[in-house]
Formats: sequence, C-alpha cells, structure tokens
Amino acid sequence: MKIVSVVGARPNFMKIAPLVASIKKHNSNNTGKPIEHILVHTGQHYDVRLSESFFQDLNIPQPDINLEIGSGSHAEQVGLTMIAFEKVLREHKPDWVIVLGDVNATLACSVTAKKENIRCCHVEAGLRSGDMTMPEEINRLVTDRLSDLLLTPDRISGDNLRKEGVPEEKIRFVGNIMIDTLEANRERAANINIQDIVQKNSIKNEEKPGSQNQVSGPYALMTMHRPSNVDHKEVLEPLVNLLLEEVAGRMPLIWPIHPRAIKQIKTYNLWEKALTHPNLVLLHPLGYHDMLRLNMDAEIMLTDSGGLQEECCVLGTPCLTLRWNTERPVTLREHGGASVLVGNNVDRIRDEFRKTLANGAVPSTPELWDGHTADRIVELFAGEFYA
Ligand code: UD1
Repeated sequence: MKIVSVVGARPNFMKIAPLVASIKKHNSNNTGKPIEHILVHTGQHYDVRLSESFFQDLNIPQPDINLEIGSGSHAEQVGLTMIAFEKVLREHKPDWVIVLGDVNATLACSVTAKKENIRCCHVEAGLRSGDMTMPEEINRLVTDRLSDLLLTPDRISGDNLRKEGVPEEKIRFVGNIMIDTLEANRERAANINIQDIVQKNSIKNEEKPGSQNQVSGPYALMTMHRPSNVDHKEVLEPLVNLLLEEVAGRMPLIWPIHPRAIKQIKTYNLWEKALTHPNLVLLHPLGYHDMLRLNMDAEIMLTDSGGLQEECCVLGTPCLTLRWNTERPVTLREHGGASVLVGNNVDRIRDEFRKTLANGAVPSTPELWDGHTADRIVELFAGEFYA
C-alpha cells in the first residue's frame, strides 16, 4: 500500500513525527502488509526556525518531495499547492493521502486528492470553533467534508462530525497525535537549562547587545500570531501595552515571537518599546524541546495557539487563551483542562491573569491522549483500510 502524507506549516511537523516512526516500526515487523510512505512538504513554512529545526529535533526524515510554495496570500498558497500536488499524485498514484490539522496545506491537498479520486484521511478531524473568520475553520470544514476517513482527537470532535451528517463508518476516535510527540520528548526537554534557551535565542542580544536577559524564578510565557490579534493596530497596541504593564510588570515574560507578529509590531511602531522593556524576553521562534521545557515550568501561558492549549492541558500549565472561541473545548477548565478563553479584551485578560496566577498546575489527560495515537492510526491502515 502506498500513502502520501502532507505537511506544510509548523503545527504539522509535531503531528507527522510519530506517524513516520510508527509506519517505520510497522514495516520492520514484516507483517506481510508493507506501507510505502512518501512525505510531501508544501514549503508554506520555510524558515529554519519554523521548519527545518523540527525535522532535525523530532527525527523526521527529509521530505521526499518539497513543493517550495513559500509565503503568499491564502489563495496563492492554496492554488500553488494544488497545482504542484496534482503532479505529485499523478506521478506516484498513492492509495491514500493523509493530511493533518488545519493549515493551508491540509485544505489544498485534500481537495486535490479527491479531484484525483484518491482516498483522503484527515488526522485531527472534527474540531470546530464555529468561527468562519478563521482561515483554519474553513480549512477544517472543507477537509472533513471531503475526507473518506476522519480520525478524531476527542469525543467532542466525533459528535461534531455526526451532527454534520458524517456517516459513522468514516469516523474513528484515535486520540491526539501531538501528545505522542509530547510524551516521547518530555524527558529530553526536562534536561534543558532555561537560561541556555534564553541566551541562545535572544533577539535583544542581537539588537541591543548588553541588555538584561536573565530569567530566574517564576516567569510567564506567551505566543501570539493569529491575524485577529496581530493584524489590526487597535487590537495589537492595547494588547502589547497590557502585556508589558500587567504581565511583565510582575515577572519576566518570555515571548518567542512569530514572524507575522514581528512584522506587525514593527509596522505599528511598537518594536522599540517591546525591545527596551527590561522584563520582556523576546526570543526567536523556538525549537520543539525548548518550547516544551519553558512550558513545563511557566507560571502561566498566554497564547492564541491551539497546539499550546493542548500541551498546557497535559502539562497542567494555567493557560489564558487569547481568543473568543476554541475548536479544542476539551482543553478548557470546564472540561477539566487548564485553559480559559479571554479573547483580546484587555480588562478581561487583566482580570483573569490576576485570578489565574493564584491557581497552581493541574495536569489533565483527556481520553486517548496517551502517546499511542500514531500506532492506532497505523493499525487502521494495516488492517481494515489496507489497500
Ligand atoms: C500558519 C497556519 C496556522 C498556524 C501557524 C503556526 C494556515 C492558514 N495558518 O499561520 O494555522 O497556527 O502557521 O505557525 O495555514 N513567514 C516567515 N517564515 C516562514 C513562514 C512564514 O517569515 O517560514 C512569514 C510570512 O511571510 C507571513 C507570515 O510569516 O508574512 C505568516 O505566514 P503564513 O504561512 O501566512 O501563516 P501563519 O501565520 O504562520
């Protein structure tokens, strides 16, 4: 059986790593049902820090094919990916295409696969924010509508699909594949020294040599890159002011900053203020293990990333989710998780920040977030879906 799987952007890389390892393990067991696996990278994320470092750190083999799509508008990214991926499918004629998550590669490659009459499997199916202004929600909806096999990370996602009329035989509850990666890498991350992470990745060291960059004692950790938070001055400026005054006013605030956020902060003339704040520790985007290490010991996380929300849930790090909705309700406090939705209203963030600091870490492991999701997926392909 031949499978083509597709990755495109950072959150895909930690999801493909366990699948690659599990297929390799399956093939070495000589079950008589070999799986030929071709890994395609669309090239949406191309920076070393957003892409290559994850391949190295997570032992993902170099992609067999890189479509080198790069940056662009959504239509450009999706269109160019479809044109290039169609050629890959015509040449390699796989039995299945596997797409992951909700990035532009997920949408582009699921549509292309179905147009070529190739079966498509979506890993992380059924997540719904209900927010059609999020590009990721559109990607999820289209991909799930087209896919032949929908692998869900939690029971809520399965129920979402049933409500949309997806037939039962297409849905399988396999758990959260990203947690496979977390469990496999916990120990290695725990041995990293936090001050080393700060020194190695500091933006201040490059732009303002000699400035303070010490993190000793409790710290807060944040990430922010969603267009809804960073693209508009009237949202971004009060957010940055609040983070500097309220959060960095109390403890070091470590911010590994995404290229989109840097670009916008510079555009709105907030960069100098951020760079010179003594308690704001601005870092380049971090490798997987460094980010996991910082998350393990953070007093509190502030983020608009869905993946970090899930990692906070398992690690127990109290998490203020800088969004008004989430496609991952299983990570919320009302479901036993560590996260609370605060949107981008500064009064609400301030209020929850103060309240949440009083809470300690409360780890919670949703059903089947057990580190064995990739093995369950490979069992499906080696069993009832073997072609
Ligand atoms: C993408 C995903 C999002 C995910 C995020 C994680 C989609 C629709 N969005 O958003 O779900 O949470 O990745 O990082 O697929 N850029 C670089 N270097 C790179 C890649 C991008 O500098 O390697 C710049 C681009 O020029 C662009 C900005 O970063 O200005 C945003 O990149 P883009 O790929 O459009 O989407 P993300 O915001 O990263």
